[in-house]
Amino acid sequence: MTDLSTTYLGLHLKNPLVASASPLSKKIERVKRLEEAGIAAIVMYSLFEEQIIHESLELDHYLTRGTDSYAEAMSYLPDSGTYTLLPDKYLAKVTELKKAVNIPIIGSLNGVSKGGWVRYARLIQEAGADAVELNLYYIPTDPAITAQELEDAQIDLVADVKSSIKIPLAVKLSPFYTSLPNFTRRLVDAGADGLVLFNRFYQPDFDLEELKIAHTLDLSTSNDLRLPLRWISILHGQLNTDFALTSGVHTASDVIKAMMSGANITMIASELLRRGPERVPDILSELQTWINVHEYTSIKQMQGSMSQTSVAEPAAFERANYMKVLSSFRDLP
Ligand SMILES: Cc1cc2nc3c(=O)[nH]c(=O)nc-3n(C[C@H](O)[C@H](O)[C@H](O)COP(=O)(O)O)c2cc1C
Repeated sequence: MTDLSTTYLGLHLKNPLVASASPLSKKIERVKRLEEAGIAAIVMYSLFEEQIIHESLELDHYLTRGTDSYAEAMSYLPDSGTYTLLPDKYLAKVTELKKAVNIPIIGSLNGVSKGGWVRYARLIQEAGADAVELNLYYIPTDPAITAQELEDAQIDLVADVKSSIKIPLAVKLSPFYTSLPNFTRRLVDAGADGLVLFNRFYQPDFDLEELKIAHTLDLSTSNDLRLPLRWISILHGQLNTDFALTSGVHTASDVIKAMMSGANITMIASELLRRGPERVPDILSELQTWINVHEYTSIKQMQGSMSQTSVAEPAAFERANYMKVLSSFRDLP
């Protein structure tokens, strides 16, 4: 058997297939099935800044209702057995998952602003997580905010979170930055031990009959792999950090491409949500077969072999490729 092991955020993983943040981690039984199926680690569904702030505002409201005194107000709280805050449930889930399985559990925080919620990174650490993934999910809509301001704020946030924990920190981000190489370098300088490329932004649709916004979540296909593949290829060798590829990982070929681009691991959600944990052993055995047939000795041997610094045609990742692709299109007869 060829060595499928890899490392990510200082964690030794038996293979490069990691369950991405999603409902896959909501049920203990499913997490156990994923572990049995061979998944190497689990990223938990996110704890959202909004959930924490919402809960603390509710608590605030509760505490101040009818009295100005904090001590008195505390007596309004139902006993702790019946009153649990949503974030507390999340932290309890981290601990529960850690006890249930032996693979690494990565906690996930989703937020963009600095504030009290950032301390939850430390609480996730205390709950037993092996690492924290911070998902910077933000859609700027205000023309007054400059790219510089936005990026500076996100860098500060990453530095803040990093300074509050001892376990490794990964940052998950979107592809929508003007100069991704510069921004990612700043993230690494601010303390990101790994970069998770990319978030899939869910685009709202219009319901033409009801004239309202339709919220539908489409699962990915292997075509979605191309974007993170290109960017990890470009960034690998330029940044001293680990890479996780997320979006469009469905087959062993997708995993191999990701490894060759320079990713340490792949994260997979849509495929397992659609077809169940049973897909894990299939993908791993196809991976094993491909590696044997092509005479690689390990996953590590292929990592980065197709990155921009390694390939014979580095321009393929840049603008030069555009004209080539356009001219390769076969027009209608
Ligand atoms: C139903 C669903 C829920 C998700 N929830 C989260 C989440 O809580 N936090 C997060 O960072 N990403 C979340 N994601 C994004 C996935 O982690 C992943 O990055 C994305 O789906 C792309 O991977 P895929 O192509 O394997 O689906 C979610 C995705 C799906 C489909």
